[in-house]
Amino acid sequence: MPELIRKRYKELIEEHILDFLPDIDHKSITLYESMKYSLSAGGKRIRPMLLLAAAEFTGCKLEAAIPYACAVEYMHTYSLIHDDLPAMDDDQLRRGVPTNHIIYGEAMAILAGDGLQSAAYEAMNKDMLLYFDDPDKLKKRIRASYEIAKGSGCRGMVAGQVADIESEDKACSREMLDYIHLTKTAALIVAAVRAGAQLGGADAETLNNLTIYAENLGLAFQIADDILDVVGSEKEMGKKAGVDQVKKKSTYPSLYGLEASKAKLMELTDNAIEALSSYYDNAEFFTKLATDLAVRGK
Ligand code: IPE
Ligand code: IPE
Ligand code: MG
Ligand code: MG
Ligand code: MG
Repeated sequence: MPELIRKRYKELIEEHILDFLPDIDHKSITLYESMKYSLSAGGKRIRPMLLLAAAEFTGCKLEAAIPYACAVEYMHTYSLIHDDLPAMDDDQLRRGVPTNHIIYGEAMAILAGDGLQSAAYEAMNKDMLLYFDDPDKLKKRIRASYEIAKGSGCRGMVAGQVADIESEDKACSREMLDYIHLTKTAALIVAAVRAGAQLGGADAETLNNLTIYAENLGLAFQIADDILDVVGSEKEMGKKAGVDQVKKKSTYPSLYGLEASKAKLMELTDNAIEALSSYYDNAEFFTKLATDLAVRGK
């Protein structure tokens, strides 16, 4: 059952993922192509799936959540394009294909990231414009957009990327490592879940439980990514393995070792599942996703 729901969400995202790319003057067609290239390259679509799931869980119609789901994936894809740049992680493979800058050059990859970021807000704002006469629905949409702005910006993903870069090549405290992971990765995952819940008009308790779930899942997600960087293969990840060690990144395996990292991954996954235990089978999508993501890093 959760597998079928996941399939349905995934199909919906794939169907609409290009819908919110603005019509671009043909003189800037390379911008369109480079944004489309990275969006179409695949990816697990975890964040938009979580947004759709949280929206449906809290009573929002799936169709209404689509612009926000695509917006969060645009923000995530922009973060990956910039993360791969030579000035950052300098990676050549992403989602099983050459990274954006390898195909389009560095300048265009920077601009594709910029373009995706503004396209995300254009998608959400355009949707909000339809609800001027319905203050309740408009408020829900403004709240959802605010979650995405907050999670992806200077207290969220961007802050985490700054700390990640500044912690390369040097000893990093456990506290700092958690800060990096909670901001660069968990913040956008939390934003996706909270944005969906805001669209559904979730009450404070539900919003809080979903937030605890997403924080634990988000931290677990980056720990799994760090573990896979050590033990995973290029084929299963669609990106090169072993790059964290080369760049002397501060990661869970580098600070705690592989076994302790795996134990932490399991502990966080249990915490995530526990946060939604009062909803029993109604939260099955969320709990199954947490289990499946943890298995990747086992
Ligand atoms: C990769 O995110 C970057 C991290 C935060 C670890 P994903 O693992 O969700 O990448 P895609 O979207 O599936 O390519
Ligand atoms: C990236 O973390 C987090 C982002 C905000 C993009 P990583 O640098 O570990 O992600 P990968 O391994 O390149 O996907
Ligand atoms: Mg990085
Ligand atoms: Mg990287
Ligand atoms: Mg990584």
